[in-house]
Amino acid sequence: MQNYADLEHRPRIVRIQEVKEETPTVKSIVFRDDRCSKGKPGQFVMIWIPGMDEVPMSLSLIGRNGNSGITVRMRGEATKALCAMKAGEQIGVRGPYGTYFNVGQETKLLLAGGGTGIAALAPLIELPIMRKKDSTIVIGARKKAELIYLNRFKALHPMKKMRLIATTDDGSYGIKGLASSVVNTLLEKERFDMTYACGPELMMKTVLDAAQKMGIPVQFSLERIFKCGVGICGSCSLGQYRVCRDGPVFSGDMLQGISEFGKTKRDSAGRIIPI
Ligand SMILES: Cc1cc2nc3c(=O)[nH]c(=O)nc-3n(C[C@H](O)[C@H](O)[C@H](O)COP(=O)(O)OP(=O)(O)OC[C@H]3O[C@@H](n4cnc5c(N)ncnc54)[C@H](O)[C@@H]3O)c2cc1C
Ligand code: FES
Repeated sequence: MQNYADLEHRPRIVRIQEVKEETPTVKSIVFRDDRCSKGKPGQFVMIWIPGMDEVPMSLSLIGRNGNSGITVRMRGEATKALCAMKAGEQIGVRGPYGTYFNVGQETKLLLAGGGTGIAALAPLIELPIMRKKDSTIVIGARKKAELIYLNRFKALHPMKKMRLIATTDDGSYGIKGLASSVVNTLLEKERFDMTYACGPELMMKTVLDAAQKMGIPVQFSLERIFKCGVGICGSCSLGQYRVCRDGPVFSGDMLQGISEFGKTKRDSAGRIIPI
């Protein structure tokens, strides 16, 4: 008899529908997959690039007209190969896996995405329930050419109470400086009910400290090196957690007392290295 449990974690082969250039080094890859279209904001998928590798990616598009997608920054071999793929080619998809961003009764929200970290937040920002919220979105990048989704979020403006703030390290667009500095100033001056963030861990550590000082709860999406993606191999350990299974979305309470957060991580050989 067929054991369907065994099939649960096998990659499903999907055909790429569209490849969109977000910046010269970041591409969004759109595909159709029933399970992904039922995924939740903040969850990730394991993407298999045939003949190359399998890498974790946040779902950056969930079920829009039946389409789902990921947004990939070229970093090493696998992400470069993924970014070179064209519509019509095939990739493997496992998941969606992991915890997700929760939206409750809170009304005034702060959402901060650094670099491609905004990919994990985009499906959250686009949830229908967010139209009823008063949200401030901060997106940061090193320079204007690296800012992603500006037009995607600007298109939401008429629909809801939404403030969009862009920051660039070199001042080529929006506010000059780090997204975390803007977020910290906002946290000091205004009263938010919840802060969501995804980006470089040092940014999130700074935001966590500021939010906790003001007594504001947080939900952060974290990255570690993932191999299995399902809690078996331990390559994604963070304190007592396995980021793939207990995260990638963590509350501030979960991160409280985790001395590694914002300081160290494991490299692909499992060695502990500074962030
Ligand atoms: C839950 C999760 C969600 C992610 N979502 C996205 C996403 O939406 N878009 C995106 O572009 N990337 C995302 N990543 C990161 C992505 O998985 C890595 O960039 C990718 O695995 C690198 O593979 P590579 O072979 O191209 O590079 P490699 O040759 O493996 O690595 C290149 C460089 O990137 C570093 N690196 C590799 N993997 C990671 C990682 N997981 N975290 C931090 N540094 C890493 C390596 O140490 C090395 O310095 C996510 C990672 C996780 C864990
Ligand atoms: S990636 Fe294997 S335990 Fe998390």
